Amino acid sequence: MRALFLSLTLLVGVHHPSLAADAVNGETLAKRWCASCHLVSEDQRKGSDLVPSFASIAARPDFDEDRVATFLLNPHPKMETMSLSRIEARNIAAYIAEQKRR
Ligand code: HEC
Repeated sequence: MRALFLSLTLLVGVHHPSLAADAVNGETLAKRWCASCHLVSEDQRKGSDLVPSFASIAARPDFDEDRVATFLLNPHPKMETMSLSRIEARNIAAYIAEQKRR
């Protein structure tokens, strides 16, 4: 039973990469919801000086993708309620995490 469960988990993992956080979708969401304040990508020229860029957030030593995803479920100061779904929040967090590698 346990072996069956394990192989099922493997199958799902291999054949349904869409179940993993989708950073590409995260980028679309970030450009729509976050770019008015944050620099969300390298090609963006203008954001607010007072708001940390996604690259600088990702580069923090204590950066944690899961924590950011949870954080995004609540509005932060000066930010209107965005009411992102859990999946959208995870996708954006995955996208932010990716900014560090660039
Ligand atoms: C209206 C402006 C505004 C918008 C829109 C906005 N933010 Fe922010 N965000 C801020 C400000 C200001 C801070 C700094 C807050 C602080 O330091 O207390 C911040 C901080 C953050 C932080 C860092 C929090 C920390 O731990 O220090 C993250 C992550 C973040 N924003 C993600 C996002 C994402 C993702 C979006 C889009 C879904 C978004 N923000 C949209 C203004 C905004």
